[in-house]
Amino acid sequence: MEELADESAETVDSEAINFHDFHRPRHHPDLWHKTREFYSFLLDAKARGHYAYRRTLLEGSTARTLVVDPRTGEPRRMILMASNNYLDLCTDPRVISAARSALEQYGCGSGSVSLLAGTQDIHRRLEARLAAFYGREAAAVFPTGYSVNVGTISALLGPGDLALVDLYAHASLIDGTKLAGCLTKFFKHQDLDHLARLLTRLRQSYHGVLIITDGVFSMDGDVCRLRELIELKEAYGARLLVDEAHAVGVLGEHGKGTEEYAGVLGQTDLITGTLSKAPGGLGGYVVGSAEVVEYVRHFAGSYVFSTSLPAPVVGGLLAAFDLLEHDHARRARLGDNAAYFARRLREAGCVVENTVTPIVPVIIGDELITRKIALDLHDQGIFAAPVTFPAVPKLRSRIRFSVMSSHTREELDYVVDVMQSLLGRHRVSIRAGAPP
Ligand SMILES: Cc1ncc(COP(=O)(O)O)c(C=O)c1O
Repeated sequence: MEELADESAETVDSEAINFHDFHRPRHHPDLWHKTREFYSFLLDAKARGHYAYRRTLLEGSTARTLVVDPRTGEPRRMILMASNNYLDLCTDPRVISAARSALEQYGCGSGSVSLLAGTQDIHRRLEARLAAFYGREAAAVFPTGYSVNVGTISALLGPGDLALVDLYAHASLIDGTKLAGCLTKFFKHQDLDHLARLLTRLRQSYHGVLIITDGVFSMDGDVCRLRELIELKEAYGARLLVDEAHAVGVLGEHGKGTEEYAGVLGQTDLITGTLSKAPGGLGGYVVGSAEVVEYVRHFAGSYVFSTSLPAPVVGGLLAAFDLLEHDHARRARLGDNAAYFARRLREAGCVVENTVTPIVPVIIGDELITRKIALDLHDQGIFAAPVTFPAVPKLRSRIRFSVMSSHTREELDYVVDVMQSLLGRHRVSIRAGAPP
């Protein structure tokens, strides 16, 4: 007990250690001890001006939005380069008007989980819309994209089954495999020879096998090799789940995502996705055959035990899907902006990951320098996301820019110029993407 009362955690030097140091096991008898250390780290990082998380927006998630400056506490209009609202749908007047009508008809919350009293006709309309959008029999809508992945994978896999997961797959997919209790093996990012070797070695020793990948990888912006993944899963009698969180609305002529982009519509066993990025709302979905979707609906804990989406969000999403599917000009603007921005950054000497999407990551390498650059960008009126371990490997810290359809060329040019000067100031070796 004496040790539990120990208050002796020293002041932590936030420039000497990194976030990832806190992921190591601490082995202290007081569970709270690590929180005291981390809190000290946090206070020091804020005081020294390299804490760039949880900045506060005073308006919607638009290309130029009002943000509270963490140093002065004053509002400041900034170029937002960190939003997943790629198509500007969450503040579109037609989406707002549909959300308002639903609010007036149904009220704010749904009052129950879906299987009990939480299914309103508007939820059924959204599920039917999603199933039709993907040309599948059925869809189930979950409270978030995170919960759909955790729930779906843990419902479908169990001990004796095998999950083969791309090393860069989103955390929610990996968390799903942990909850499932199956064996999980990672294949090297986009390395399908490695995946084939794992299938050859392990397929016969397990019951069900699920290959799991992002459609568009959330921290890199590259697109999975869907056609070859489909060939592999068929050759080995496995199933394939693709998370379309960053692909929906973005890839393909009608925004149907990776399948449309790769010319393999309808060939993935199971699609999950989120309604919180290009669709501009909140929630997650699983789309597939009626049998699989109904099974997931009844056995995914995050569906069974969690309240359904509020109707205003669902109403807004129904309007958003009409725009997302049919407003080709908006999607074209987004694609042009993303390609232009990545090209200009590369010309300026930045190391940009192999992206073909609005996710444009500039590799910095070192975690502390990445966080400092994020705040320097802020000082210049640019809101961009520093991404460090565990979201990416330790020495691959990056500034992750997200492009929107409404960014102007002037805004994008300005960001490139500032980024170029900051890399020079922080002596980041531009070609290598790492500090000297
Ligand atoms: C690939 C991927 N899957 C799932 C999610 C989770 O979605 P949500 O934020 O809607 O819970 C995210 C994003 O946060 C993501 O990037």
